[in-house]
Amino acid sequence: MTLYEESAAMTSNVNRGLEDRLRAELDDMKARGVHKELLYIGGRQSAVVDIEGLGEIINMCSNNYLGLCDEPRVMEAVKDGVEKYGAGTSSVRFICGTFDIHRELEDKIADFLELPASLTYTSAWNANEGLFAPLLTEEDALISDRLNHACIIDGIRLCKAQRKIYDHMDMDSLREALESSRDARHRLVITDGVFSMEGEVAPLPDIRELCDRYDAILAVDDSHATGALGDTGRGTPEYHGMHGEVDIITSTLGKALGGMAGGFTASSEAVIDTLIQSSRTQLFTNSLPPFSACGAVAAIEHLEEHPELVTKLHDNTEYYREGLIALGYEPIPGETAIVPVIIGETADAIRLSRELLEEGVFVIGFGYPVVPRGEARIRCQISAAHEREHIDAALAALEKVGGRLNLI
Ligand SMILES: Cc1ncc(COP(=O)(O)O)c(C=O)c1O
Repeated sequence: MTLYEESAAMTSNVNRGLEDRLRAELDDMKARGVHKELLYIGGRQSAVVDIEGLGEIINMCSNNYLGLCDEPRVMEAVKDGVEKYGAGTSSVRFICGTFDIHRELEDKIADFLELPASLTYTSAWNANEGLFAPLLTEEDALISDRLNHACIIDGIRLCKAQRKIYDHMDMDSLREALESSRDARHRLVITDGVFSMEGEVAPLPDIRELCDRYDAILAVDDSHATGALGDTGRGTPEYHGMHGEVDIITSTLGKALGGMAGGFTASSEAVIDTLIQSSRTQLFTNSLPPFSACGAVAAIEHLEEHPELVTKLHDNTEYYREGLIALGYEPIPGETAIVPVIIGETADAIRLSRELLEEGVFVIGFGYPVVPRGEARIRCQISAAHEREHIDAALAALEKVGGRLNLI
């Protein structure tokens, strides 16, 4: 055997080993009923979606909180954006990937959130992952809620600051973490504004008070709150009456604000300029496609002119929560459009969601590792795109399937 043949044989052995291991793991997941199957949608993201092989299904699991994914004004802005700016940027921001529409969108975001400046990324994942390392070093402390989103966890892993995890929304635990970081140069507390798997709203006034007491920076990932929470959709700070009192806000353009790709960080001029200089998920990856920026500008303008969409979302949510409780379900208490019902075992949550799908309702079941073991759940998400008939039909299906599976 030549050296070349030998190395080719070795490579294929390695690959076969990996293939065999992955196949065995996937087969095991299938046997345990926890394997995720992808469903293909053949039309627009809306209150009802056309799922391949299933037809029209009521959609109770999208982040399309305000129904802007198929809002004509937003779609028109995207089309005009393609016409004006072409298909993409072919560059990172600091080389030749900065377009005037980026500035327009970033000014609009800063105004909307009442913070001095903002910077867009291709996703909120990138915004969070690229946030901490440019701001903090070994001399600093990064303090994070135990249930923060995965992109915050990954962002923390990429930063050299000391790490402290406090128990979920537990102010005693946060105080201890702050107390034990007194010697650090800076302390930065990061929390989800609305926790994506629980739908709970972070207690920002209490967190702010502790941050003030310990001279700490407060950062909030408001991805599930921007556009959805507060009377005019300005998120968790508005909900708590704390306009402009959060030092750093990260959020997404991929949920309430039109559902396209994109995310951002909003903060002071100095923080934003530092991110432009050294945030790696900004420096080494293409900038937000201009057509997405056009769509996001239109989405924010539409929201500013139509706060009744937020009111409708809140009314729909209240109606759905009350309906679920009347059926005998026990959703995690809260006021947000994320309405999870803990089922327990992953296989049971997935079975419930499969049977709901057969009844024409799309609700996803989540299990470990997305949520802690034994706390598998279905997560229902409400939208302003829903009419009462959609919500009533979803509740009727939940009654039928929940009864059949002895859940209510
Ligand atoms: C709390 C939170 N942060 C960030 C993200 C990531 O958002 P994007 O899709 O813009 O990367 C999500 C999305 O699921 C989220 O729930």
